[in-house]
Amino acid sequence: MEQPLQSCDPPPGPPLPALLAGRYRLERVLGVGGMGVVYRARDLLHEQFGEPRSQVALKVLGEHLAPSQDAHLLLYSEFSLTRYLRHERVVRVFSFEVDTTGEVAFFTMELMSGMTLDQLLLNCPRGVPWQVLRPIALGLLDALGYIHRQGVLHGDVKPGNVMLGADGVRLFDFGLAQALGPPLSGLPALSPQRFTAWTPAYAAPELLEGAPLSASSEVYGAACLLYDLALGGRAAQGAGPRSRLAPPRQLPRRCWPALRVALSVDPQRRTITADELQAAMQCEHSVVGRWFADRAR
Ligand SMILES: Nc1ncnc2c1ncn2[C@@H]1O[C@H](COP(=O)(O)OP(=O)(O)O)[C@@H](O)[C@H]1O
Ligand SMILES: [Mg+2]
Repeated sequence: MEQPLQSCDPPPGPPLPALLAGRYRLERVLGVGGMGVVYRARDLLHEQFGEPRSQVALKVLGEHLAPSQDAHLLLYSEFSLTRYLRHERVVRVFSFEVDTTGEVAFFTMELMSGMTLDQLLLNCPRGVPWQVLRPIALGLLDALGYIHRQGVLHGDVKPGNVMLGADGVRLFDFGLAQALGPPLSGLPALSPQRFTAWTPAYAAPELLEGAPLSASSEVYGAACLLYDLALGGRAAQGAGPRSRLAPPRQLPRRCWPALRVALSVDPQRRTITADELQAAMQCEHSVVGRWFADRAR
């Protein structure tokens, strides 16, 4: 009989068995979010074959969602949408499984190392220097542009859902993601309204008034994230409409007009895509950056 998992940072609720599906040995809790708990685990099957990189990350639903009858559909929907996305800046998922003994559904994914951008924010109260911020901006907007072209909205772009590792950033946590059209809209999904839990600091104003999620609202979230990183700490939050804020010190002046358009409170004025914002962030003298700068005059 397996002993329950001992962890230095256990999530609330009864402990999981230390071995899931006879294969994944849980080692420790990596993080607890609003919907799930993510563990580091060893894949004992792969280890049997001498696989040197046998560690995975394993996500289960949080205890508070368990009573919901279709909660497992929520987890499967996250897995399924993420599996369709293949991009170096998007987390890779491996398999969806069920531990029949403990009646626990979970999915496995690549184990990312590094820190989430909210940890980076805490470490950089005076703002993230441009040479660090630029690759973060380019990587995140690359991921966002890609998923939007695939017809997917992430649904929860915020610092806690972006990992910064030695090889750059990865966007993860597609728990609130939505597919805009076929073939992905044919995937099992739950009504997003049921589980929508916007993070107010990164939610576009129109979402808070009930408008549906859109590519534009995600660009707003990404722009807020980049703005906060450039400013440092969480000084910008709660300071009123973002579009009235001053250009952050860490940001080259040439990038500001495009970022300001992305931060527009009025979605009609937020006339910039993730790809265009990325192009504007490429360098100080990008053509797109200049175009937004000229329009702002
Ligand atoms: N693949 C992974 N590798 C390493 N850590 C991860 C991974 N996925 C999630 N985490 C950690 O677990 C935390 C919660 O995961 P997340 O998927 O965001 O859950 P939730 O849907 O509840 O917000 C993250 O903030 C991060 O610290
Ligand atoms: Mg999360």
